Amino acid sequence: MENQNTRQNDFLPINGTDFVEFYVGNAKQAAHYYQTAFGFQPLAYAGLETGLKDRTSYVLRQGKIIFVLTTALEPDSPIAEHCKLHGDGVKVVALWVDDARKSFEETTKRGGKAYMEPAVMQDKDGEVVISGIHTYGETVHLFVERKNYKGLFLPGFVKWEPLYKPEPVGLLYVDHMVGNTDWGEMDKWCDFYREVMGFDQLISFDDTDISTEYTALMSKVMANSNLYIKFPINEPAHGKKKSQIEEFIDFYHGSGVQHVAMATNDILKTVTALRDRGVEFLRVPDAYYDTLLNRVGKIDETIAPLKDLGILVDRDEDGYLLQIFSRPVEDRPTVFYEIIQRKGAKSFGKGNFKALFESIEIEQGKRGTL
Ligand code: FE2
Repeated sequence: MENQNTRQNDFLPINGTDFVEFYVGNAKQAAHYYQTAFGFQPLAYAGLETGLKDRTSYVLRQGKIIFVLTTALEPDSPIAEHCKLHGDGVKVVALWVDDARKSFEETTKRGGKAYMEPAVMQDKDGEVVISGIHTYGETVHLFVERKNYKGLFLPGFVKWEPLYKPEPVGLLYVDHMVGNTDWGEMDKWCDFYREVMGFDQLISFDDTDISTEYTALMSKVMANSNLYIKFPINEPAHGKKKSQIEEFIDFYHGSGVQHVAMATNDILKTVTALRDRGVEFLRVPDAYYDTLLNRVGKIDETIAPLKDLGILVDRDEDGYLLQIFSRPVEDRPTVFYEIIQRKGAKSFGKGNFKALFESIEIEQGKRGTL
């Protein structure tokens, strides 16, 4: 499926997600968590030992997924300010492009707000060009051009080789990343992705699709021309009580990345490993599995292990998908992860939203934020 904005006239061709950078309160401990719990492998490091004065970054990789965990070393740092306001969260969604200068020029001339003018970074392994623009909240997109670079990650980083290296769990690539935007801002940010970045809308849901007794949300999925980049954009909708999107906005103090969905080829194996390593997942009521096959038809998997792990299944016209959502991975009920295995389906699990939201509401009730 190609979007209307075909690859030939795409003014912002993107090869994939380059990296996701989190600003966190303690990068050393966060890195340990992503190694231990999620099976990310140590890749690169930058900090005091490499000449930085204000920050430390650990770079971890699993499959094609690269996470950068960055913490401030000084109180008056913008990184520290970001953590103070938002808690641990995603600052940068970096996109891999062939021409970072053109990406900057094309997006800023269409109204994108500059975050970083094109800059060349060099070391013995070559050069990387990086530019960037702002998106929702304090989140930014960097455009990373690395065709003339042979190094591990970026110039300025050294190889990070700790003795501690737990095994990977089979995570392969970023399937999609979801943004929660503030009240009434969904259309504004969908327009931004359409007009500034040349994305098209794949799907939309409204509160008649996604609502429970208490909560509601609206969502539209924006994607680039090759569909490698898919950004569902949510906004809260009014329900009888506070929705999980509103809860996020309250605790994050504005718009931000809600979840990163990571793909696997074997969700049973991956989720078993994640659970054994301490990743906590949301659970739907057991009754979900009683009617599962009536809803989704024939699937390759048997129900018992899906039910044991709490894996959800949904079907669309192209096939089906298996998915599960973690609890938030910090104390504020903000950022969480989705693990997804696609068996043909191109959608995002709409059929699971209702069951899922009801289970989230049980947890919100415990937090006193419903
Ligand atoms: Fe998702």
